[in-house]
Amino acid sequence: SLTSRVDKTSYFSNGFSYHFQSECRYSSEDLKDLEYISRYIYNKLEYIRYNSTLNKFIGYTEHGVKNAERFNKDGSADQAHTDVDGYCRHNAELYFKNILWHTVEPSVEVLSVKSGSQRHSTMLVCSAYDFYPEGIKLTWLRDGKEVKTDVTSTEELYDGDWYHQIHSYLELTPTSGETIACQVEHSSLPKPKIYNWDPSMSDGDRNKVIIGTSGLVLGLILSLAGVIYYKKKSTGDN
Ligand SMILES: *[C@@H]1O[C@H](CO)[C@@H](O)[C@H](O)[C@H]1NC(C)=O
Repeated sequence: SLTSRVDKTSYFSNGFSYHFQSECRYSSEDLKDLEYISRYIYNKLEYIRYNSTLNKFIGYTEHGVKNAERFNKDGSADQAHTDVDGYCRHNAELYFKNILWHTVEPSVEVLSVKSGSQRHSTMLVCSAYDFYPEGIKLTWLRDGKEVKTDVTSTEELYDGDWYHQIHSYLELTPTSGETIACQVEHSSLPKPKIYNWDPSMSDGDRNKVIIGTSGLVLGLILSLAGVIYYKKKSTGDN
């Protein structure tokens, strides 16, 4: 649902407060009912309001009525009316384009984790990270068929930075040759996207391989450097 946008400016002097507030009100994206309201408030009392639907200032106190009449005659109302397009429509369209209609595709991984269950050997997790906006559907597919049993999921978790994440778990005993996949549906994707589980390696195994390989490469570089240093030193001495 859409809400109106409100900007406020306040001044204080000698203990009195002066407040100016402008609002852009609309209930749909086509902006058919777009209305610009500005309120003039003195010590919490609204004494003049401009309403773009009427294209008029309305006074609420004696002083307000007097000034509203003047504003309606001297062209201030027409001047204020230009803010319907120049301020409200302009900002609303920026808001729709940059925030409301904006989507970010999740980054998804399907991994095996340690299973706590007695019945099944394997637990898979399908994690979708950093998607926007909220509203995602993860479905487990076993050879293309939806799996509904032994599935649990977290809620959509808010990261605190506009993005969300979710994790869906599937407990199973895999049989060889079958394909297990996680299907993702989100407003950023024109059609559902399918991520297959690669059973050849678990995440833990992959990390071990990466660390082991790094260690091996580092060891080779150091021993090579040692050999070169030794050779240089021994030829230099002669
Ligand atoms: C502005 O005027 C229209 C027409 O009289 C009215 O329907 C609307 O409620 C007014 N808006 C405000 C915020 O006063």
